[in-house]
Amino acid sequence: MAKVFIVANLKSYKNENEAKNWLESFKKIKELNLDMTQKEVIICPSFTQLFSFSSYFSSNNIKVKLGAQNVSPFDEGAFTGEVNAKQIKDFAQYVLIGHSERRVNFGETEDMITKKIEISLKYGLNPILLIQGQENIISQQVGLVAYEPVSAIGSGNPDTPENADTMGALIKSKADGLQVLYGGSVTSANVKSFTTKANIDGVLVGGASLDAEEFIKIIQNA
Ligand code: PGA
Repeated sequence: MAKVFIVANLKSYKNENEAKNWLESFKKIKELNLDMTQKEVIICPSFTQLFSFSSYFSSNNIKVKLGAQNVSPFDEGAFTGEVNAKQIKDFAQYVLIGHSERRVNFGETEDMITKKIEISLKYGLNPILLIQGQENIISQQVGLVAYEPVSAIGSGNPDTPENADTMGALIKSKADGLQVLYGGSVTSANVKSFTTKANIDGVLVGGASLDAEEFIKIIQNA
């Protein structure tokens, strides 16, 4: 059986102190002794917290992966303000690319998204390509795609598991071996209705992951 992906997107939330509290709460996952062999948990904090999250997880022996929420489309160089794939690779294994919030607020184009995918792969970072619908391009180079309909993001109004499954099947038909996540108002109460669908390999969680205890419940229920 393939692993279920459970991804936390902490977005642009949590300063250092809040992040520390989140980690302390998340540490309780160890007491539950969950069987994690079938679960790939990926936590995506802000760039400023990648180092502290990575140190915390290794010193507390918490077996989760880390992801960045964005990456520069350029290699290292004179690009003031950008964080590049080579830098991210020191701390993280994954990177979110193409979130609708970035496409809308930061003018990310399909061309930029392709560049971000390519540079991530060059440095051995696994891209998680976020698409909002069939209109988005799915690069042949990615293995992990997250379907996040804009109306479901942060709205408390998730897509139906049936629609998400249909979309999952459609995405999978585009390339061999693609894995598909669903994102948009996922909670501990509805996560199972998505992860039990044949064409959904996991979930991407925004708002509900900001509360570490709720995120643990999502991991448990997935
Ligand atoms: P949400 O966000 O879970 O708060 O809907 C998901 C996302 O934007 O990745």
